[in-house]
Amino acid sequence: MTRGRDLSALKRAAAVHAVGEVRDGMVVGLGTGSTADFALEALARRIGEGLGIAGVPTSERTRRLAGRLGIPLLAPGDRPRIDLTIDGADQVERGSLALVKGMGGALLGEKIVASASDRMIVIVDETKIVDRLGDATPLPVEIVSFGWRYTIDRLAALGLRPTLRLVDGKPFLSDAGNHIADCDTGDIADAAGLERELSSLVGVVETGLFLDLASTVVVGRPTGIEVMRR
Ligand code: A5P
Repeated sequence: MTRGRDLSALKRAAAVHAVGEVRDGMVVGLGTGSTADFALEALARRIGEGLGIAGVPTSERTRRLAGRLGIPLLAPGDRPRIDLTIDGADQVERGSLALVKGMGGALLGEKIVASASDRMIVIVDETKIVDRLGDATPLPVEIVSFGWRYTIDRLAALGLRPTLRLVDGKPFLSDAGNHIADCDTGDIADAAGLERELSSLVGVVETGLFLDLASTVVVGRPTGIEVMRR
């Protein structure tokens, strides 16, 4: 079993490898989370060596950290397309490279930026790779705060065993002011079907299922880097 400190080394190695793909002049989507933070640091180092890029942050947290690191930033939408987004994930399905994201609460911004990107490189340590999406972590679903109880009931009626995410006993608020329902899905046999079903529910803003978005996954393993492509 890989321990906490070692996991950080694997995350950092994956992040540094992915940042090696960034070229001068690119618009780069900046992910959110502990692994994406390592990518910001690596990017800032390359900028210090003369690389010229502009970043589009996926969250307020990332915007603040990138700003502190001196990464030039664009607001989302300033440019029609993003060349490359580098972001972490909570689960990566082997083969399909389908993802579960959102344990950090930034799934809406992450999905908007990933969907506007020509390429998405996902950076993970080896513990995030699964044979099938499902049990490893809950599936975060961003829901409108207004009438959230009704939306939670609708999710429960689908058998998803939702729990409203709390922080210090209060409902978590996303950057967009929404709540998150963490759903206990069990094994997800039909991710596209579940995505369609969830997206059609009144009160659901976005789901943490990222299907057909990751083009490459860089996995940090104690034995070295593994690159998976779709
Ligand atoms: C943020 O909302 C998430 O989607 C993160 O990308 C995901 O939780 C991975 O985070 P870590 O890199 O911290 O594990």
